[in-house]
Amino acid sequence: MSVLDFYRRPLRNLRISVTDRCNLRCRYCMPEAEYVWLPRRDLLTFEEISTLVDVFMELGVNKVRLTGGEPLLRRDLPELVSMLSAKPLKDLAMTTNGVLLAGHVEALKKAGLNRITVSLDTLRADRSKTLSQRATHPSVLKGIASVAPAGFTDTKIDTVALNGVNDDELIDLIEFGRTVPAEVRFIEYMDVGGATAWSPDLVLSRAEMLTRISAHYGPVTPLPNPDGAPADRFALPDGTTFGIVSSTTRPFCATCDRSRLTADGLWYLCLYAMEGVNLRDPLREGATKAELAELISGAWRARTDRGAVDRLAERDRMPFVPLTALKRDPHLEMHTRGG
Ligand code: GTP
Ligand code: 5AD
Ligand code: SF4
Repeated sequence: MSVLDFYRRPLRNLRISVTDRCNLRCRYCMPEAEYVWLPRRDLLTFEEISTLVDVFMELGVNKVRLTGGEPLLRRDLPELVSMLSAKPLKDLAMTTNGVLLAGHVEALKKAGLNRITVSLDTLRADRSKTLSQRATHPSVLKGIASVAPAGFTDTKIDTVALNGVNDDELIDLIEFGRTVPAEVRFIEYMDVGGATAWSPDLVLSRAEMLTRISAHYGPVTPLPNPDGAPADRFALPDGTTFGIVSSTTRPFCATCDRSRLTADGLWYLCLYAMEGVNLRDPLREGATKAELAELISGAWRARTDRGAVDRLAERDRMPFVPLTALKRDPHLEMHTRGG
């Protein structure tokens, strides 16, 4: 039985950031050269993460996604995957930038990871370099190519669609997805913490994406979305599917069943939440699982977050958190919260 929040949304989906570090500097997420990093001693051990997952599962969580920063920068990640895959979860997935993927994909499969999502914003190496401020595009493509041979299915590619940057690649990316094979999901640029260069002009809207895609392929058919997943899915006339995550122009907060655990054990109930629940300290001070469950369920029952809906109501929308505040509290960064 899932514990329900104030709007009767269940606690089902936990995103666990295993590190705040990243080897790319994507302009929509980590544009700065330097960051304030979480202190190493604060990082949860794999045992601590596993204990918390047990507690979350008692309260209804059945989907876990490992994120970062870049999760593959966390040493021995397959060990954590083994610990989590031994639990009766419905889904254990990972979102990665793909740079280090080819070297780890087999160990991840063996450890019991179910699914992989790779971020890929462009098929052009020069654009990738401008966007991510690193020349890693060939490694990312190699990483993507390694996923199917390692035995993974239901792979996804996440593309943040940016006006004037990669908006001319929607069709090419869908075509690329077919060859992987992977379902491509286009994500609207969000004004989350860390997106300090956000402006409404850069947002390619869901409506505009659908216009462009159907102008090329013919009418697209919306597919049912029973889980309330963030992506709306569509089928092209030939049956190829793709998704759109329209957090900016059509938020899905009404069905949001997800929360996020940072690498140092703060639990955030919304991507836009300003404060998180500290689970690390009670855990390290010897709280029992029952006590942790009490803390977590109490916070979830009181949850009223609808961050993206609130942002939509904002006039003269600007970046959500100013750089000075991000420097004071790195937990406000998207990359600390797990993308
Ligand atoms: P599945 O549906 O299980 O495949 O996973 P997912 O779509 O939750 O995972 P993924 O990491 O691929 O998420 C895709 C993108 O959607 C993220 O990188 C974010 O940009 C966005 N997103 C994910 N979760 C949330 C959320 O809770 N709120 C909002 N507003 N956006 C989210
Ligand atoms: N807007 C939309 N998606 C973002 N991500 C990070 N920052 C943003 C943003 N400002 C997501 C992307 C990326 C993943 C790691 O996090 O999906 O692929
Ligand atoms: Fe969930 Fe907050 Fe994202 Fe809305 S903005 S979908 S409530 S995490």
